[in-house]
Amino acid sequence: MGSQIWPLGLCFFMCVYSFISVGSKALVGDGTVFIDGKAAIGRIDDDFVCATLDWWPPEKCDYGTCSWGHASLLNLDLGNNILLNAIKAFSPLKLRLGGTLQDKVIYDTPDDQQPCVAFANKSSEMFGFTQGCLPMNRWDELNTLFKKAGAKIIFGLNALYGRSIQSDGSAVGAWNYTNAESLIRYTVGKNYTIHGWELGNELSGNGVGTELQQIRGFFDANWFKEFLDKTSKSLDVVTHHIYNLGPGVDQHLVEKILDPSYLDGEGNTFRSLHNIVRSSVNFSSCMGW
Ligand SMILES: *[C@@H]1O[C@H](CO)[C@@H](O)[C@H](O)[C@H]1NC(C)=O
Ligand SMILES: *[C@@H]1O[C@H](CO)[C@@H](O)[C@H](O)[C@H]1NC(C)=O
Ligand SMILES: *[C@@H]1O[C@H](CO)[C@@H](O)[C@H](O)[C@H]1NC(C)=O
Ligand SMILES: *[C@@H]1O[C@H](CO)[C@@H](O)[C@H](O)[C@H]1NC(C)=O
Repeated sequence: MGSQIWPLGLCFFMCVYSFISVGSKALVGDGTVFIDGKAAIGRIDDDFVCATLDWWPPEKCDYGTCSWGHASLLNLDLGNNILLNAIKAFSPLKLRLGGTLQDKVIYDTPDDQQPCVAFANKSSEMFGFTQGCLPMNRWDELNTLFKKAGAKIIFGLNALYGRSIQSDGSAVGAWNYTNAESLIRYTVGKNYTIHGWELGNELSGNGVGTELQQIRGFFDANWFKEFLDKTSKSLDVVTHHIYNLGPGVDQHLVEKILDPSYLDGEGNTFRSLHNIVRSSVNFSSCMGW
């Protein structure tokens, strides 16, 4: 596979926005859109539409609301026909499975010895929750749905397993990949098709932050350069998450989303990342912007 850059964070925010707008009354009016079809300013893959399924449990609260409900990989109603049809409608929808808590999930594979317990609220823990667990029967059910719906799955692995987090938010020690390897072996053994395996959630640059609003995983050109140079044989795709729309609670979210010049503000970051990917010695880029 050639290398690409997936703007997954952007998609995440679009999804959050549509979710929020359900509760409020939208104003409807007629409008006219003019498109200059002669001058393309960029190219995208045919399967560029993406969405995320996250791990957050119902107890996760932000800005005074606990908005996740039963929307997690662990508790989503997989028999819901609206969900199935929504995924099908975007076929092939890229579904990224992950988020902050992915780096606290263990997989209950046959060779895992630990008890499989759910995430629990604990403010002293990194990200506010204890370690959680993916039971293999749940993984089977998820894959049955994904296959039926024709989704392309990108699974975010726990890249902090076996590493210890220092008080400054940096992670030390080697990654223990045993559990991840075991999940991949299980998955291959079951013939589930996984489009991509992602390593960690927003662990680039300065490292791990314990609060969502803390700086972590922001664009750091030198970090990306070094990362690409050191992973030339094992890396196909680079992802970079963006939060340029700000938090979902922002009163001006609608204006920002509808303002192309505001959205263009992120262009330089991706141009810079694109240049790093393109000039990386052993890593050829195919993505146009
Ligand atoms: C979990 O923690 C959050 C924030 O720390 C808090 O708002 C919420 O009420 C807690 N939920 C439960 C079920 O304890
Ligand atoms: C890595 O994790 C596995 C459990 O998944 C454990 O059995 C093993 O001892 C760990 N290895 C190291 C080096 O800590
Ligand atoms: C996976 O696919 C292979 C080859 O198509 C087949 O032989 C095998 O039985 C399948 N395994 C499962 C668990 O479905
Ligand atoms: C690029 O690949 C070549 C040949 O496999 C290797 O010798 C070289 O060290 C690689 N360069 C980097 C920066 O990884």
